[in-house]
Amino acid sequence: MQVPFLNPSAQVAALREELVRAVTSVLDDGRFILGPNVAALEKEVAAVAGAAFGVGVNSGSDALTLALRALDVGPGDEVITTPFTYIAPAESVVQVGARLVFADIDRRTFTLDAADVARRVTSRTKAIIPVHLFGQAAPLGPLLELARARGIRVVEDCAQAIGAAWEGRPLGGIGDIGCVSFYPTKNLGAAGDGGMCVTQDEALARKLRMLRVHGIERRYYHDLHGYNSRLDEMQAAVLRVKLPHLGAWTRRRGEVASRYDVGLAGLPLELPVVAPGNTSCWHVYAVQLDDRDGLKAHLERNGVPTLIYYPLPLHLQQCYAGDGWKEGDFPVAERVSRRILPLPMYPELTNEQVDHVVGCIRDYLMPGSGG
Ligand SMILES: Cc1ncc(COP(=O)(O)O)c(C=O)c1O
Repeated sequence: MQVPFLNPSAQVAALREELVRAVTSVLDDGRFILGPNVAALEKEVAAVAGAAFGVGVNSGSDALTLALRALDVGPGDEVITTPFTYIAPAESVVQVGARLVFADIDRRTFTLDAADVARRVTSRTKAIIPVHLFGQAAPLGPLLELARARGIRVVEDCAQAIGAAWEGRPLGGIGDIGCVSFYPTKNLGAAGDGGMCVTQDEALARKLRMLRVHGIERRYYHDLHGYNSRLDEMQAAVLRVKLPHLGAWTRRRGEVASRYDVGLAGLPLELPVVAPGNTSCWHVYAVQLDDRDGLKAHLERNGVPTLIYYPLPLHLQQCYAGDGWKEGDFPVAERVSRRILPLPMYPELTNEQVDHVVGCIRDYLMPGSGG
């Protein structure tokens, strides 16, 4: 049996007619950028994220950069984030000219270790970017408390966490600005790049709207140094077809996670942990074990290719080589990078496919145990 690691085209196949109709109507309409679909999607995604306003931009990466700009983060400021994530949040800090500060992660949830964040706060700390990694919230309780006490802004990286919640509140509208990605393999994926900032604050929303179009409110009058970071109508139309299904897809991801939990129980590996108060949207289901590479190769031989998120923590990446970080600086992130193995996770996975993955893992770790 073959089990693709990701399968975005399965979702397209299921919604093909509706998608073609939506895209065709954009072609016929002729408004290709920031039109009615973007405006409607902004309201719809803001509602899912529990926020008052949405501002569509052209990627999750840009959403982070524009969020920092909207909060006036720049040279002389420090921003704390995690070294165990996709690089975009770190890049956004560098792009606005602020100093990038990492804090280590929790070994069970993979999200920021709030105590380590607190240790790294200085008088220059202007913002924290908690990444809601793999679909569950970073420890927002202590991070928000710290931020409030020290006047620090919070930018939630929700790229992997649309549809997830903390203490019953949807992620995105909790911090100052939430940043969503519509990269095709995300839980709500476009047919290309796309992203959105969400916020409760009307003034921030207004500034974000200016920043995404070269700093203008009136055409050809540039009040801010801005960007070209607009969401296009084709992507918005595709996303609006998909959005009504997000709840059902998230529930199915939860079922797949439970099936993995049950099937893998008792094996010598660590299963992912959802922290109390968190409702995960299961963007990624990742196990940990010392013999990660051996199991990865075994799965590959049995029709289950996998991809490691993330094989090298950010502080050890070549692009930061001049910045003084070294091996051992963030030991938890480094250990997790060596031991982590994400398993196939998407709503279209069948129970048979999940059972095949479980069987292969049982077979490798406990030969003769029924795999
Ligand atoms: C945690 C995280 N932040 C930000 C991004 C950036 O999003 P995009 O690819 O839409 O620029 C991604 C993913 O791609 C991500 O996983």
